[in-house]
Amino acid sequence: METTEFWVAGQPVTSDRTFDVHHPYDGALVATVAVAGPEHVEAAVTAAVAVAPEAAALPAHARAGALDHLSRRLAERAEEVARLITAENGKPIRWARAEVGRAVSTFRWAAEEARRYSGDLQRLDTDPAATGRLGLIRRFPRGPVLGIAPFNFPLNLVAHKLAPAIAVGAPVLVKPAPATPLSALMLGELLAETDLPAGMWSVLPVPNDRMPALVADPRLPVVSFTGSVPVGWAIRAAVPRKHVTLELGGNAAAVVCADWTDLDRAAARIATFAMYQAGQSCIKVQRVYAETPVYERLATKIVAAVEALGAGDPADEATEVGPLINEDAARRVESWVAEAVAAGARVLCGGTRTGSSHAPTVLVDVPADAKVVREEIFGPVLVLSPVDSVDEAFAAVNDSAFGLQAGVFTHRLDVAFRAHRELVVGGVVIGDVPSYRADQMPYGGTKDSGVGREGLRSAMDDYTEPRVLVLTDLPL
Ligand code: SIN
Repeated sequence: METTEFWVAGQPVTSDRTFDVHHPYDGALVATVAVAGPEHVEAAVTAAVAVAPEAAALPAHARAGALDHLSRRLAERAEEVARLITAENGKPIRWARAEVGRAVSTFRWAAEEARRYSGDLQRLDTDPAATGRLGLIRRFPRGPVLGIAPFNFPLNLVAHKLAPAIAVGAPVLVKPAPATPLSALMLGELLAETDLPAGMWSVLPVPNDRMPALVADPRLPVVSFTGSVPVGWAIRAAVPRKHVTLELGGNAAAVVCADWTDLDRAAARIATFAMYQAGQSCIKVQRVYAETPVYERLATKIVAAVEALGAGDPADEATEVGPLINEDAARRVESWVAEAVAAGARVLCGGTRTGSSHAPTVLVDVPADAKVVREEIFGPVLVLSPVDSVDEAFAAVNDSAFGLQAGVFTHRLDVAFRAHRELVVGGVVIGDVPSYRADQMPYGGTKDSGVGREGLRSAMDDYTEPRVLVLTDLPL
């Protein structure tokens, strides 16, 4: 098997240090990847700094054209890329295809935003001394961006680092997750087909223990991190003067109100999005709070829907739930379920583990302080709880260290608006699960869930800073 190269300043590079990527389902060797050493990182950073003025001056058509190219080529290679995602991540092929479709849209949206990102005008002639004055506020890149991506969406969350950087003309270094570097390295092939200045992008598989040095490098003023809560906040603490955005964990909740009539639909959506990607999404449904008039019927339907999900080989077209990223992750989920059961929880379905796969599991009667409620499970486990009122449901949603997204099944406009005001999260989804994300919308959290927002336009704002041009003596 050939060693997979990485990308330094737009060029493919290899090294004599390598690591292996294994299939999470059966442990098969998927690829051997060259590791970027300190000399490669230095070359990438030096090139990024050198190219920054040229990148910032690229016209909109050049930036948007490159992004359109990435979107188009990804669509052309969609099936190949989906199979790569499944092989490195264990994500069922149907969900891998969905991820590729989203990345196609992420790059396309970035191209569109690049074309219209123009700045603002502000009248300054609001008092006599400033007659004839006008402010033009444009945004300029803060400098090279360090994008650190997680394993759970190895393509689309890399796209969310790369695309906004290209859209604003900022050089970008991407560090993919060590378990899943292949989709990011494949994106390098598509980037190399563009006319972007070579130094503008690098894809560097570096081990996690070398991340602190990269984060601390003063030549990289923006750090965009998606990953675990402790690592994210440690990054921010380590570089308080940098512009750091963090997309971290969550224990997302869905509220099902008594007025919601279509319980089949609510149950189907909750079951699917509690278990998709084996629960390895920051906005998977972890907690359900259902009002008592609908609770029992809903719980029965959810369990039936969960039991109907096909679990097994992620390459199989029928599989809905595949393995976790590795056996350690599955063992951790198993131990949290066991801890909840020891504290009085009942298992309505699932509750078992085989290797890296954990059966889709529904729990009830779970104490509110159990880890499966309070921490981010990042596994195929769902906790159901009855509540007596919307007030109680909203209080339970907010009784969390996290605040990423929430879903509220209601037809009532007043409840929808209350949810928007009262739920302390980055996004509220009415009539669906918290797991809904459109890639162009602002996405991110409050509290321990992070700081800053992704979604193309929001990330473009994060990667840039405003600069005012004051024009004087104008015939306004
Ligand atoms: C995440 O897990 O943070 C990303 C979820 C998504 O993009 O759907």
